[in-house]
Amino acid sequence: MHPDIKEILFTHDEIVETCKRLGKQIDEDYAGKTPLLVGLLRGSVPFIAELIQHITVDMKYDFMDVSSYEGTESTGEVRIIKDLDTSVKGVDIILIDDIADTGYTLDKVAGLLYNKGANSVRAACLLNKAERRKLEVDVDYIGFEVPNVFVVGFGLDYEQLYRNLPYIGILKEEVYQK
Ligand code: IMP
Ligand code: MG
Repeated sequence: MHPDIKEILFTHDEIVETCKRLGKQIDEDYAGKTPLLVGLLRGSVPFIAELIQHITVDMKYDFMDVSSYEGTESTGEVRIIKDLDTSVKGVDIILIDDIADTGYTLDKVAGLLYNKGANSVRAACLLNKAERRKLEVDVDYIGFEVPNVFVVGFGLDYEQLYRNLPYIGILKEEVYQK
């Protein structure tokens, strides 16, 4: 275990099992369709990479990069850094992110994709921190529920570090206080 980690919440095996469950659900829901998975950089990368291996319906993927303006806590403003390279007109989209927290990101991006003519937009998040939700957003596919603690690993970072950990863990408090 990484020395900055206090406790492992979800092991790599548990994450893989969860991705299998979500892949099966997506297969059932999108039978006969070709969904476009839209991963939000950078946190979604390990999750989308595992998840797609358990989806058997034809699918495509693309990435967007969005960032929160400063003061996002109150306004929830979200800025597009990198847009999609693919047209979304009439497309069934599954937004992929590492964690649903306040909900501002998912809400903003889903609205944007609908404006561009997407046929449907659903969301899949590896983690759900429901306690912190500020906007009512539907997360159709949830890997795990997490309490209101700061977690890292499997794509989730603290100052861009720890994304490479193969598990999800709670960061030691002294790491923030450095
Ligand atoms: P929100 O739902 O718009 O608040 O955005 C969620 C984003 O906040 C995620 O994509 C993460 O980048 C970040 N985030 C929220 N909680 C955590 C956490 O516990 N660890 C690491 N990043 C987090
Ligand atoms: Mg993120």
